[in-house]
Amino acid sequence: MKLFYSPASPFARKVLVAAHETGAISRLETELAAVTPVAPNADIGAANSLGKIPTLVLDDGTGLFDSRVICEYLCSLAGDTALFPTSGDARWQALRLQSLGDGICDTAVGLRYELALRPEGQRWAEWIEKQRERLNRTFTQLENEIAGQVGTMTIGSAAVACALAYIDFRMPELEWRSGRPALTSWHETISARPSMVATVPEG
Ligand code: BEZ
Repeated sequence: MKLFYSPASPFARKVLVAAHETGAISRLETELAAVTPVAPNADIGAANSLGKIPTLVLDDGTGLFDSRVICEYLCSLAGDTALFPTSGDARWQALRLQSLGDGICDTAVGLRYELALRPEGQRWAEWIEKQRERLNRTFTQLENEIAGQVGTMTIGSAAVACALAYIDFRMPELEWRSGRPALTSWHETISARPSMVATVPEG
């Protein structure tokens, strides 16, 4: 099976972290794919008409997407229930945290496209400001919630760890660590895991 990915994408990174954590990485072929909203990738289009990364193409040609589906598929393949707890409070906590992490990524990637791709004269200053406010509110929510999760790797912590690293990578001026010592310490611990070290963003 082949994963189309970009080393800059936090969603692709979450998939790769899950692949490393579960051992599924040994079964994964990876192919770099450059994609933006105005330049979809034709190779991906055949497997995913949305033309987005990450897309996983199975050996029978089936395309799996988005990152949540791919992560759950890789975990089921590897028989792993640590990243996606199967039931109870642990499951909903992991999925909820994943939604927070993915929500940071949706917001930050949208902001990145606005700032890096949209012609300067067409940018919408109020929208940009509201996205930054949304991100800051979410960093504060995580500061208040995440301290109890130190040392636990679930799909939720993978999503948040990749999201915060993407902020460092593309918009360090947001200074998410400022006034958030619990989140800073949590991120430092989780970023030292081999799965995180092996997937540091580039581009
Ligand atoms: C980026 O370059 O920031 C990026 C690339 C692919 C997907 C998301 C973000």
